[in-house]
Amino acid sequence: MTDHSWAELEMQQEKSLNELFASDPDRVAKMTIEQSGLRFDMSKTHLDDAMLSQFAKLAEDMHLGDAKSALFSGAAINVTEGRAAEHAAERGNGDVQAVAHARALQERMRGLVEAINAGFMGDIKHILHIGIGGSALGPKLLVDALGRDGARYDVKVVSNIDGAALTEAVKGMDPHKTIVAVASKTFTTTETLLNATSAMEWMRDGGVADPYAQIVALTAYPDKALEWGVDESRILPFNESVGGRYSLWCSIGFPVALGLGWAVYEELLEGAAAMDRHFRHAPLLENAPTLAAFCDLYYAQIKDCQTRAVFAYDERLRLLPDYLQQLEMESNGKSVTAEGVPLGRNSAPVTWGGVGTDAQHAVFQLLHQGTHLIPVEFIASKTPGHDFDTAHHETLLVNCFAQGAALMAGQKSDDLARNYAGNRPSTTILIDDVTPSALGALIAFYEHRTFVNAVLLGINPFDQFGVELGKQIAKSIGENGATGFDPSTTALIAAALGDN
Ligand code: F6P
Repeated sequence: MTDHSWAELEMQQEKSLNELFASDPDRVAKMTIEQSGLRFDMSKTHLDDAMLSQFAKLAEDMHLGDAKSALFSGAAINVTEGRAAEHAAERGNGDVQAVAHARALQERMRGLVEAINAGFMGDIKHILHIGIGGSALGPKLLVDALGRDGARYDVKVVSNIDGAALTEAVKGMDPHKTIVAVASKTFTTTETLLNATSAMEWMRDGGVADPYAQIVALTAYPDKALEWGVDESRILPFNESVGGRYSLWCSIGFPVALGLGWAVYEELLEGAAAMDRHFRHAPLLENAPTLAAFCDLYYAQIKDCQTRAVFAYDERLRLLPDYLQQLEMESNGKSVTAEGVPLGRNSAPVTWGGVGTDAQHAVFQLLHQGTHLIPVEFIASKTPGHDFDTAHHETLLVNCFAQGAALMAGQKSDDLARNYAGNRPSTTILIDDVTPSALGALIAFYEHRTFVNAVLLGINPFDQFGVELGKQIAKSIGENGATGFDPSTTALIAAALGDN
């Protein structure tokens, strides 16, 4: 059944983008979805009516409807780890008990936030958030995007085990006035625990008598934090069924809730909740995450595109590509299906990208004239995030739209070095403004889009066994030195670490 649907998709005759627009005056309206202050324009992709109905057929074959119900009902859809994936419950959408549990834990966080604001931990000015992967990328993106108009506290996020990152982060921080938020779902991650230990050393060196009193732990394993020395009153637990890369909605969002304020955090959740409802209830072809996933699959599976590029035409969203890399690649970079059999198709493409307009002057050459076909996503906001001359924002938007137009239209020239083939696909997400609610909706959109991609490929997007081997080898080198490795690795260890 499924193979048949893919085969049907392979057989579809692709029209050029110009032909698609010429043959359907309603194309923009048909391929644009407005939701939660976001406009998703997917008209500059090659999907036509026939392909869309084929994808709808594939979604039916792969039981997308049932998978969505399972996601929102708290069923154990993370089959390899035997648990649910309940990030939407953090936004109030899910199994009643999971929603109530999430709410109770968020209220606990609110209690601590209010106590800190009232002076419970002394005169606090700085938050040093230490985590990695899903325990850092979300908070980093949110603080960078939403904390520009004067956050109540100065927030820094450190993830890199390279001590230079911590050195840089604590510059200008007063250790007596700093809360160290140790963010780790498992509370076992080497990088995070070493950085946290060094942060406490920095505090001690700065004259803080009891650095533990300034630690807040954000984790799904409170016992581990307790064991590590954090007082129970400063441990903010979250539900184990929230995956690391989906955890910014729970206590991993502490630097948002404290640093930017509880109202910002709530607004973020409400924005995501609105996108959850849209994803749950909107018909397939009017459903933004679903339609976007159809486009992703068309290029990755049918056109064999190995990468997809995301460019933020808004400084506030400069960290979005980093965030999406983990979300998309850690979720769907798998070569087996959820049933444990070889995938037999391409997995998720490489997600990469950067900041417009900078990227135009660096990597866009390849997008316009390179031999790779790379679907591009542009993200822009109608409202600027600054008070400078409106010329800045106009130029930014004009450039964003010009790139999409140029990729599609191309320009013929007899001089092949100056020829633009055109017919290159892009999608554009235009946001009314980068508010907490719009950002919540945008991130939830990407979560659900990643989920639809996984369901249609038959992948379990909620595990990440691929990251384990490197961790094991690093541990073994730490414990046993350079024994049992290939000659290259052995020589590198000897050259850099000596006898270890
Ligand atoms: O190594 C990958 C990973 O497990 C990610 O999935 C996760 O977001 C990150 O490490 C951090 O893990 P933790 O929150 O348990 O410290």
